[in-house]
Amino acid sequence: MATEARPTTDEGGRTGKVGFWLLMVGVVIMLAGLLFGYDQGVIAGALEGIQSSFHLSTTMSEVIVSWVTLGALFGALVAGTLADRIGRRTTVLLAAGLFTVGAFVEALAPGTAVLVVGRFTVGFGVGVASVAAPLYAAEQAPTRLRGRFVSTYQLAITIGIFIAYFVDQHLTNNDAWRGMLGASAVPGVLLLIAMAPMPDTPRWLIGKGRRDDAAKALHKVRPDVDVDATLDAIEEAARAEDADRASWREVFSKSLRKPLMVGIGLALAQQLTGINAIIYYADTIFAKAGFATPADQAAATTWAVGGVNVLATFIAVAYVDRFGRRPLLLAGLVGMTVSLVTVGLCFHWMDGADTSGAGTGGPTTAGIITLVALVVFIASFAFSLGPVVWTVINEIFPTRVRGRAVSFATAVNWGAAFLVSQFFLTLIDDIGTSNTFFLFAAVAVVSFVWISRKVPETKGRTLEEIEAIWEHHDPVATQRAAGEL
Ligand code: BGC
Repeated sequence: MATEARPTTDEGGRTGKVGFWLLMVGVVIMLAGLLFGYDQGVIAGALEGIQSSFHLSTTMSEVIVSWVTLGALFGALVAGTLADRIGRRTTVLLAAGLFTVGAFVEALAPGTAVLVVGRFTVGFGVGVASVAAPLYAAEQAPTRLRGRFVSTYQLAITIGIFIAYFVDQHLTNNDAWRGMLGASAVPGVLLLIAMAPMPDTPRWLIGKGRRDDAAKALHKVRPDVDVDATLDAIEEAARAEDADRASWREVFSKSLRKPLMVGIGLALAQQLTGINAIIYYADTIFAKAGFATPADQAAATTWAVGGVNVLATFIAVAYVDRFGRRPLLLAGLVGMTVSLVTVGLCFHWMDGADTSGAGTGGPTTAGIITLVALVVFIASFAFSLGPVVWTVINEIFPTRVRGRAVSFATAVNWGAAFLVSQFFLTLIDDIGTSNTFFLFAAVAVVSFVWISRKVPETKGRTLEEIEAIWEHHDPVATQRAAGEL
């Protein structure tokens, strides 16, 4: 049996069957995504209740919204070191524990100070999980499923956002915010339960010199793969590299500059094209577009933003390993640019027109076009930058620095999310709604040009083959010359 194996780490296994434990890896990544998404979405509806319970000032409201993102930024930074030191599995467990505790603190908070501590703790847990869980899945998944596993994570994020919008829309009594925030303990506890019986990744165990444990782990999750040949290949890629010795300095070393720039660039492109301005402020945008009643706004947000986000993510889950990363990213950016420009034009038009009629019975024509354009934007993001950015960030770094490098790129992502969500309303006040959307469109155009030149295709390559891509002076040009693009 062993002699038939090809000497790559990730050939899909002889039967290609997805066994129980591999499925459980999918469950882990799903729960981590749910937890991330729920917390992204929930505050939109919880804030009003919190404001009336605690009589919050504007600044305090902003702190309560944004400290989750801030906590996540720090969590993401720490997660890389943790994932390299104590392992991917223990790090996910820790994140789930922190998250659960944080959710209870939020739900029971007697005042704002405790609530802020709860928000930060939850954010910290989300940040740690946002690094450790995809890393865990990328390292456990066979090559042919890797993209799909990581995009399952994105699918779960979008489902989490949708559930949060839905819960928000339906819980309306005054103290409901405690239930909304406390409910996020559910995915936390489920994640703890799902992760407990799982082994760590063979790659991490090999890095720690624990080949026997790596063999057991590999055999458990991928029983149909040739254990020795696979571990040999992992060892070869990790040879002469000790996970502990990979310092932060190394993450920023010249030899890693190319993948690091790709990771940072993609993280920035994902956030600075405005996705979270829409996720957090959809109600506000729809109100400006003439959706007069809060019920209309909430319905538009839940279905046009939340629902479409989930549906379009299925496209990526199905096709990311078939079409490849680059075509999805580039196609998505075209759709995003067109819709952002359309939204900008509509607001320009509405600002010029007399919008006082908005209250007379529903959205104007420009309002309807804005809704359609936002649906196109969300759909385009959801099949491209949403999932693919996470997939690529988790596969482009060499094993010995993967933990820290991924955590750095993820922290950049959270930092950019923090900036956009913090300053979106200010930008609207300062330069106007239409110019704000034109600005996002400009970032989308720049991202398109940069991706087409700098982001190589990673579809169908083992993690070890991807390491070799960076040895070329210009990876994209090399792939193009070889007829691979
Ligand atoms: C992003 C989040 C965003 C979500 C929307 C994710 O890929 O990282 O910031 O809220 O997509 O679906």
